[in-house]
Amino acid sequence: MTPPAAADLAAASVIVLVAAVRYGRHLPEADRFLAVYRSLASPPPLALASVNLTARKPAKTTATGNSYLRKLIARHRLAPALTVAFAGRLDYRLYGWLDRQIIRFIMLLTRGPTDPDTNVEYTSWPAVDEFAARIADLQRHN
Ligand SMILES: Cc1cc2nc3c(=O)[nH]c(=O)nc-3n(C[C@H](O)[C@H](O)[C@H](O)COP(=O)(O)O)c2cc1C
Repeated sequence: MTPPAAADLAAASVIVLVAAVRYGRHLPEADRFLAVYRSLASPPPLALASVNLTARKPAKTTATGNSYLRKLIARHRLAPALTVAFAGRLDYRLYGWLDRQIIRFIMLLTRGPTDPDTNVEYTSWPAVDEFAARIADLQRHN
C-alpha cells in the first residue's frame, strides 16, 4: 500500500487508522502512514485502532494497557483523539506451518488456546460499534 499524500490527509476532517500487528509490531504500512500524518503542520484529529491478539483480554484494549499501541504512540509521538485495541480472529488453519507454531507458542506464553483446530473470533463487536460512534462524534465536532 502506498502512503496517502500529505495534502489529502491535511484536507480530511478526521483520520482513521486501523493497523494490524504481525510478530510484535504493526505492519510497516502503518508506520509509513503515520510518518505522513506526523509531517502535517496542523493535523486533523486521529482515531487509532490496533488489531492484535493480546487485546482479547479487556485490560489490554486501551492505549495504556496495550503495549503495541503504547509503543506505536510513543514512537510516532502521537496525540490521538481516540485509541483502542481490538482482538481479531484466531484461526490456526489459516496460517502456514511456521506461523501456526509461532502463534501457538505466543498463546502458550499468554495462556491462550494452543489446540491447532482452534477457530475463535475474539473481536468485541460492541467495542467496534462504539469506536465507530465516537468517530462520528469527532467528525460532527470538526
Ligand atoms: C503471522 C501473524 C503474526 C501475528 N503476530 C501477533 C503478535 O505478535 N501479537 C499479537 O497480539 N497478535 C499477533 N497476531 C494476531 C493479529 O494481530 C490479529 O489479531 C489477527 O490475526 C486478525 O487480524 P488479521 O485479520 O489482520 O489477520 C498475528 C497474526 C498473524 C497472522
